[in-house]
Amino acid sequence: MHATPSPLMRVIYTSRRAAGTMHLEEEALVEQILGVSRPKNATWRLSGLLVSGHGRFAQTLEGPPDMVTAMFDLIRQDERHHDVRLLHQAPTPARCFATWTMAYLSDLDLIPPEMGRGHDAMALVMALRGVVRGGPAAFAATPFSALAAAA
Ligand SMILES: Cc1cc2nc3c(=O)[nH]c(=O)nc-3n(C[C@H](O)[C@H](O)[C@H](O)COP(=O)(O)O)c2cc1C
Repeated sequence: MHATPSPLMRVIYTSRRAAGTMHLEEEALVEQILGVSRPKNATWRLSGLLVSGHGRFAQTLEGPPDMVTAMFDLIRQDERHHDVRLLHQAPTPARCFATWTMAYLSDLDLIPPEMGRGHDAMALVMALRGVVRGGPAAFAATPFSALAAAA
């Protein structure tokens, strides 16, 4: 008998940095977020990628559907950002960032080759970076927008 593979879900959203965080360097704010996210995502069996720049965040979370949903609900209430817009929510056949509890790129970083190796990972890196640079409207031009409409 084979075990049924556990279903996986992906969420992609974008948000804007809250005015109340502007006293912090972007790097310090991101360090604060990642310091909590990485151990917690490991426990919740979540992986993903966070991109920041131009006063925006774009993030994808992947993992068991109930965990992804619960984490997105928690994140959207975080007062360090606002204008949280869900861009994509759909089942996914595979994790793109399986070896990262939360990969991170600033808009200006070179993309480490190992980050782009997962299934569809490079396409996601480019999509999230496009959204950080061009705002939520830029998502329409990515392959992920055709897969599922957002609420
Ligand atoms: C842009 C952004 C992305 C975040 N991503 C995550 C994440 O991937 N995982 C996580 O645990 N928390 C993330 N957080 C932090 C959560 O909102 C929350 O503060 C954290 O999980 C601690 O929650 P708790 O105090 O209820 O334990 C993120 C926050 C922001 C602003």
